Amino acid sequence: MPLKKGRTGGAPIFMKAVYPGSFDPITYGHIDLVERSSKIFDEVIVLVMENVNKKHFFAHEERMRMVRLAVSHIHNVTITTHSGLLVDFARENDVKVVIRGLRAVSDFEMELQMAHANKSMLADFETLFLMTETSNSFISSSMVREIASFGGDISKWVPPCVKGEFKRKLGK
Ligand code: COA
Repeated sequence: MPLKKGRTGGAPIFMKAVYPGSFDPITYGHIDLVERSSKIFDEVIVLVMENVNKKHFFAHEERMRMVRLAVSHIHNVTITTHSGLLVDFARENDVKVVIRGLRAVSDFEMELQMAHANKSMLADFETLFLMTETSNSFISSSMVREIASFGGDISKWVPPCVKGEFKRKLGK
């Protein structure tokens, strides 16, 4: 595991970051962010959460299963879950950085609000924004769900394991 030297030249620092989301379902847009952040941090924790403002299509176990399969090729990624505040997970697991993706300016306002809210609850918790690749910038989980529900082809946006999970659930 590549450890960075401590800021003061002392003991090496193991840098981990958390990437939270509801992943309903995980898409190539999310996977791209996990891949890129895994090159920056020693460990990336993909945290499958509930968004209390959304009614999820896939059950929690189904979302976990898809995430596990979709990022299994990345060696320094762990997948886990947490119900409650993100900052509580960060505090309990000594994680200082949260990764968030920005697809368009429209994402920014809500992300800024969340970043400020998280920081005001946990002062040394930083939000790192990564720009989504242009080719993924229009993907959203709800768009994928809608296309799949009408029997459209979603292979461009999600890995085969997600396609299979839709097939199982929708019977098409
Ligand atoms: N590529 C493609 N799509 C992306 C993407 C990317 N890189 N990043 C996000 N998206 C999409 C998601 O698929 C999702 O699409 P949908 O709305 O169509 O389903 C949408 O953007 C929103 O995703 P995200 O911003 O990750 O929200 P979320 O609902 O998946 O997760 C939580 C939000 C769970 C992280 C947030 O509610 C949370 O932290 N909850 C914990 C409670 C807490 O601490 N609250 C206080 C926070 S201030």
